[in-house]
Amino acid sequence: MQNEIINATVKDLPIIYQLFEEAIHFQRKNNYVGWNSYDKDFIKADINNGLLYKITRNEDILGIFSICYSDELIWRENENSDAIYLHRIVLNQRFKGEKIFQKILDWSILLAKEKKLKSIRMDTWADNEKIISYYKSYGFKFIENYTTPATEDLPIQHRNLRVALLQLDIDYSDFSFDSLKKINIKQEFATINLYWSQKIIGKTNGQLIKLAKGKGEIKWHKHDDQDELFILYKGNLTIQLRDRKIEMYEGDMFIVPKGIEHCPRADEEVEFLIMGLSVTSGSAVCNRNNSI
Ligand code: NI
Repeated sequence: MQNEIINATVKDLPIIYQLFEEAIHFQRKNNYVGWNSYDKDFIKADINNGLLYKITRNEDILGIFSICYSDELIWRENENSDAIYLHRIVLNQRFKGEKIFQKILDWSILLAKEKKLKSIRMDTWADNEKIISYYKSYGFKFIENYTTPATEDLPIQHRNLRVALLQLDIDYSDFSFDSLKKINIKQEFATINLYWSQKIIGKTNGQLIKLAKGKGEIKWHKHDDQDELFILYKGNLTIQLRDRKIEMYEGDMFIVPKGIEHCPRADEEVEFLIMGLSVTSGSAVCNRNNSI
């Protein structure tokens, strides 16, 4: 019997509500810090946006969770659209002991690798040491505690809540390529359909070779761990630095040294190659803040 992770639909709503209610009951019974309620509007919105998933086996739902590609309300200045955010994870108590969270996490890591994102992020109750330790046992590290704002942009159970922010960095060290396979850069660019999202096409001497397309402007940022090399393949790209602008034309190369703030901008679509130690940005789905 195979587990499957697929989008939940409105038909699943009754069981989804039931799982939330059981989770709240379980948390109360055990005196855990947890939810007091849950927000049906957010659940419906997640379903409509294709962001609520269920892990199923035959007719059973083993758990549900929502994902998002940006979370500015909770991660603020640390939000770079380079992570998958896991939210509202509810595991079906009847399947306890089946390592369902591990399956959700494995699936999320694969998705993140496909999208070349840097990390998986979540937040949980800051005062629930037990659940924080649980997530740490899966490789998450603690980033900080934060009290969420009381805004309608958050689900009701998530407003004015002291949360611990947790992050699991994606390991790309096992990223392997067929070293004797020829790669055509033009064809690789043709497969990219998101702006400012990096596609890894090779690895050499520890450096990743990445392609990206861009249009418009992304936010100011710096990379403290690595230089960032740009080679412009098509179009005109402006690398804005705090004290100057680098106008790049086709065939130009420029290295942004580590620690230097920069902000690439392109009025028309550009195609460029980047080299560096890791993926420095990810795709944008929910907002436009990227950071190549
Ligand atoms: Ni950058």
